[in-house]
Amino acid sequence: MLGECVGVGSSCEVYEWGGSADKVVKLYHSNWKQEDVLREYSNCSAAWSSGLPVPRPYEMVTWEARNGIVYERITGETLVNRIFQSLYALELFAAEEADHELRQYARVLNTIHQTPAEGIMTSQRDNLKAIIGHPEPLTAEEMAALHTYLEQLPTKKQLCHGDTNLSNLIIDGDRLVMIDWMHAAIGNPEADVAEVCVAIEYAVLPPETPAEVDQFFQSVRQTAYRIFMDEYCSVSGVTEAEIRAWYPPVAARSMASGALPAEQVEKLAAMIRERIRG
Ligand SMILES: Nc1ncnc2c1ncn2[C@@H]1O[C@H](COP(=O)(O)OP(=O)(O)OP(=O)(O)O)[C@@H](O)[C@H]1O
Ligand SMILES: [Mg+2]
Repeated sequence: MLGECVGVGSSCEVYEWGGSADKVVKLYHSNWKQEDVLREYSNCSAAWSSGLPVPRPYEMVTWEARNGIVYERITGETLVNRIFQSLYALELFAAEEADHELRQYARVLNTIHQTPAEGIMTSQRDNLKAIIGHPEPLTAEEMAALHTYLEQLPTKKQLCHGDTNLSNLIIDGDRLVMIDWMHAAIGNPEADVAEVCVAIEYAVLPPETPAEVDQFFQSVRQTAYRIFMDEYCSVSGVTEAEIRAWYPPVAARSMASGALPAEQVEKLAAMIRERIRG
């Protein structure tokens, strides 16, 4: 039943499924509980029913004691791969800047945020606190200050994706598809947008990156940030300051994944400390 592996995430591998060219199965690592997988399935089903650009979810399955979800296969490439290809070609902002993929991503996020989603109940704030936990190198006092900071942020009740890293958007020609809905929640869209901005502003490229590619990235980083931020603010009416207010909790959440290079974790921790100081 399993075909070729078409993608890998922190929680899973994704394979062709059932001999069909149109379906894949997202197979979770065996430590993932069925209730978590069910949450992703039901969130993605709610997004699909609302007409959002998501892969059609078909069913939940188990394969060799691993929980999985069968999805429509989206052909195309993730935004992160597209950006890396552009960086290696030293041409992130070519002639098509007016319709750059980061601009399109901002519009997809705004569409999600403007959609009323029946069936997604999770509270973004509760979810964030649970995922953040207590990431290194923040102290117990700093975590208490971060929680107080989070409580003081304004509360909204909009649909949020909750995991807007650049590998969760697949670009298939004109079709942009948002995958990976496990952390969808009701709350402030600013958190989704801040996650992308924090990634652009604080990313440390892998150590094997050629020096000229890294230099090129440093030279275009702020332009990338501006393009994405300005597009989101212009389509949503949300301000840059409102988005930047969400940097501390969102940065702590990304540190908690344990997947970031040590240099990036230090930069994020310094930013969090600076901003949560009363
Ligand atoms: N429906 C799909 N069609 C085609 N490829 C997919 C599909 N779903 C996922 N993939 C591929 O598999 C990768 C991992 O999937 P996904 O993002 O759902 O996993 P994850 O473990 O939750 O990710 P993360 O690392 O963001 O936590 C994606 O980046 C993409 O390349
Ligand atoms: Mg993902």
